[in-house]
Amino acid sequence: MNFELSEEHLMIQKAARDFAQNELKPGVIERDEQQKFPAEQVKKMGELGFMGMMVDPKYGGGGLDTVSYVLAMEEISKVDASASVVMSVNNSLVCWGLEKYGTEEQKQKYLVPLAKGEIIGAFCLSEPEAGSDATSQHTTAIDNGDHYVLNGTKNWITNGSTASVYLVMAQTDASKKHRGINTLIVEKNTPGFSIGPKENKLGIRGSDTHSLMFTDVKVPKANRIGEDGFGFKFAMTTLAGGRIGIASQALGIASGAYELALQYSKERKAFGVPISQHQAIQFKLADMATEIDAARMLCLKAAWEKDNRLDYSLSSSMAKLFASRVAMETTVEAVQIHGGYGFVKEFHVERLMRDAKITQIYEGTSEVQKIVISRSILTK
Ligand code: CAA
Repeated sequence: MNFELSEEHLMIQKAARDFAQNELKPGVIERDEQQKFPAEQVKKMGELGFMGMMVDPKYGGGGLDTVSYVLAMEEISKVDASASVVMSVNNSLVCWGLEKYGTEEQKQKYLVPLAKGEIIGAFCLSEPEAGSDATSQHTTAIDNGDHYVLNGTKNWITNGSTASVYLVMAQTDASKKHRGINTLIVEKNTPGFSIGPKENKLGIRGSDTHSLMFTDVKVPKANRIGEDGFGFKFAMTTLAGGRIGIASQALGIASGAYELALQYSKERKAFGVPISQHQAIQFKLADMATEIDAARMLCLKAAWEKDNRLDYSLSSSMAKLFASRVAMETTVEAVQIHGGYGFVKEFHVERLMRDAKITQIYEGTSEVQKIVISRSILTK
């Protein structure tokens, strides 16, 4: 066993850290306040190769491993979790699924510009009445010869208005339950496709979350991913990788808050000494550092399993369950260490605390991760 990162991993980590500090940090508070999508920054992330990190270079990607992706996600998320969710969805939910299951035509048409970051994608599974219970899809994709006719509503869609390409899950044959679901690639300007208002959120306010409406939208059969009825399997296998991305986002939010709290504790004086000399603060820092390291190990283990073609769905759920809990606990403690200053925006930790919450909800709530984990350990 080797815990050492390679030269290449260290370079990618540094590139992501420099980008986050130089390009994402300035303006992050304003973007959060104004709910402003980091459009310029996401464009640069594409130019630097952060939007299709694991995609084969022949399709415009970076050809990197999942460990590199975890390292980059952590660094970007330390500073701007709104930018990192755009990156996570594009990399793991959209590019990965298209590369793994798409046809050559679909890859040339959609994956190449997505992997280069020229356009961004969205993953559309959740519905008003199908969140955790994802097999209960009400959106329909009726087979009509050479195309499907799509009707229904999707909810909580990340990159909802900024995406150009949407992977939409819909029920084609309700009698087959989840085996009757298909995933269709829908282009933004298709007639009958409309985008609802932007959600006004507690956290990741710079990211772009919308509901989507489909009314008699014609989607060519050539835009179906995989065989007829493969759509739910597509969603589940893709989400197993997506959860590594969100676990790494949670890890980054936690380590970002910890680094700020550590620095602050050395500068802020109380009772005549820096507060880092008080055991009350030391114990908090010790807990934070230990939990963050454990979360990082789980993220890297899931990534390593994926890179080594092992089954990673258990590890990715464990990583997401644990790292999101650590993100929540660590950010609350980081605010506490900052005292009153932690409660104001200039010190960044209140934003990280608000951003942390969503990591326990999206891409499968903590309760869903426990379903996946318990089923896996009980059937072994
Ligand atoms: N890999 C492959 N197949 C899988 C799988 C996996 N990891 N997990 C489940 N499946 C398959 C099962 O084998 C089964 O197929 P068969 O019957 O053909 O064998 C099928 O999927 C249904 O599985 P279950 O019977 O286990 O289904 P269930 O109704 O009990 O639900 C669940 C399981 C784990 C709760 C699932 O519904 C789930 O993950 N729900 C959460 C959905 C979710 O994560 N939504 C996030 C939305 S996306 C998002 O948030 C993105 C964003 O914008 C940030």
